[in-house]
Amino acid sequence: MSENWSPESWRAKPLHQAPTYPDQARLAEVEESLRNFPPLVFAGEARRLKDSLADVAEGKAFLLQGGDCAESFAEFHANNIRDTFRVLLQMAVVLTYGAAMPVVKVGRMAGQFAKPRSADTETIDGVTLPSYRGDNVNGSDFTAEARVPDPERMIRSYNQSAATLNLLRAFAQGGYADLHKVHSWTLGCVAGTLQAARYQDLCNRLDETLAFMEACGMTSETTPQLRETDFFTSHEALLMPYEQALTRIDSTTGDWYDCSAHMLWIGERTRQIDAGHVEFLRGVKNPLGFKAGPTMSPDDLLRLIDRLNPGNEGGRITIITRMGAEQVEAKLPALIRAVTREGRKVVWSCDPMHANTIKAAGGYKTRQFDSILSEVRAFFAVHKAEGSHAGGVHFEMTGQDVTECVGGMTAVTEESLGDRYQTACDPRLNATQALELAFLIAEQLKDERIQARAKARAAGF
Ligand code: PEP
Ligand code: CO
Repeated sequence: MSENWSPESWRAKPLHQAPTYPDQARLAEVEESLRNFPPLVFAGEARRLKDSLADVAEGKAFLLQGGDCAESFAEFHANNIRDTFRVLLQMAVVLTYGAAMPVVKVGRMAGQFAKPRSADTETIDGVTLPSYRGDNVNGSDFTAEARVPDPERMIRSYNQSAATLNLLRAFAQGGYADLHKVHSWTLGCVAGTLQAARYQDLCNRLDETLAFMEACGMTSETTPQLRETDFFTSHEALLMPYEQALTRIDSTTGDWYDCSAHMLWIGERTRQIDAGHVEFLRGVKNPLGFKAGPTMSPDDLLRLIDRLNPGNEGGRITIITRMGAEQVEAKLPALIRAVTREGRKVVWSCDPMHANTIKAAGGYKTRQFDSILSEVRAFFAVHKAEGSHAGGVHFEMTGQDVTECVGGMTAVTEESLGDRYQTACDPRLNATQALELAFLIAEQLKDERIQARAKARAAGF
C-alpha cells in the first residue's frame, strides 16, 4: 500500500470543488450507509481493464471512452442507456476495422454525476445562487432550495449507477453485443444519413467475414469473443465522500480499490499535486486518468505521473489531453517528449470537447464539430511526428438525437440548437455526429497502421 495513505488521508489536504453540506450529521449517516452497500464493480474487473490499457500504452490497442457530460436523475431511462451503449458499440466496430486492433470500451456512465464548476456561484437577473454541481450534489433548478447540497442525493446516484451498470452488463454479456447483430445497432435517428450508409457498408463486409469464420467453425456458440464484449465504466472522481465510502480492500490482493467504477479520472480543476483528489487516487489500484489542459507543464506532468504511478506500471495512467484545437501543436509535443525521455508508460487519449466550448448567439453553450475534429486531427498529427501512439479518444456524446454541438453532416446550426438541447451540463455529440467522428478517426488509425507496416518492412521485418 502507498506510504502514509488511508482512504481518508485526503481529508487532511486542501480540497477543491467540494460542496459545503449544511447538514453534517446527515452527511455522516449517508457515508455510513454507502460504506455498507455492495461494491458496484469488482477489483478483478478493474485489473482486467488495467491490463487492456497496458496494451493501449504499448500501441497494441485503442481506447474509446465516452458518454454524458453529466448523468442526471431526470434522463435516467433504459432507452437512454441502451442508445448510448449502441452508439459506442457502433463506434468501436468502425474503429476496430480501421485500426485492426482491439478497442477498449469505457463508458462515462453509471456514476458520472459530479461536476466541477469554474465559479462557485451563478448569477441570473441579479440573483446569485450556488452553482449546480451535478445531480449527486444539488439540483439544477435555479432556486435557493434546489441548490443546497443534499447528501441524500449520493444514495440516489448509487442506486441509479447500480441499475445502469446492471443493464450495461446485460447488454455487453447477454447477446445484445453479438457481432452478428451489428446491423441492428443503428439508431432510428441515424437512418438515412451518409453515416448510416457507410456503417451499413462496413456491416456487409463484416457479415462476409463472419460467414467465412462460421464456415471454419467459429460461431457465437464456439467463440465468446463474437458473442460478448467487455464494457467498462468510468467517471470523474470528484465527490470525495462518495468515492471514499465505496473504497474497499480486495480480498485476493489486499489492495484498496475504489469500487464505484472501473476507471476514475481527475479533472483539470482538481489535479493539484498536494491536494485531496490526487492524495485519494494515489492509494487506490484502479486504472486512473487525469486531464491535461494547456497550462500543464512537462515538469508538473512528470510529477503527477510519478505521484500516481511510482512503480511505472503499464495501464495505470491515461493522460487525457484537452488543449483546444488551436493549442495542441504548441503544447502537446513538449509533454510527449518529457514522458518519452523519462520512459514513463502512459496511454495518450484526446478529449477534444472541453477546451472547445463556446457560447452561441442564443446563449447556449456549444461546440463546433469542426473544432472537435481539428483537435483530434492535430492530436494524431503530433503523435505521428513524435513517434508515439495516439492511444484513444474521450467524448461527451449520447445516443439521443440532440442538438447540442453545431456542425457535422446533419448540420445542426446555431439557430437549431434550441430544438433538442437536453444536456444537464456540457453539449454532447449526437449519435450521427459521434459516428461521423468515428469514421474520421478510423481513417487516421488506418494511416497509422499502414505507416507502421511500411516502417517494419523497410527495417526488414
Ligand atoms: C469533464 O470531463 O466533464 C470535465 C469537466 O472536464 P475537464 O476537467 O477537462 O474540464
Ligand atoms: Co463536460
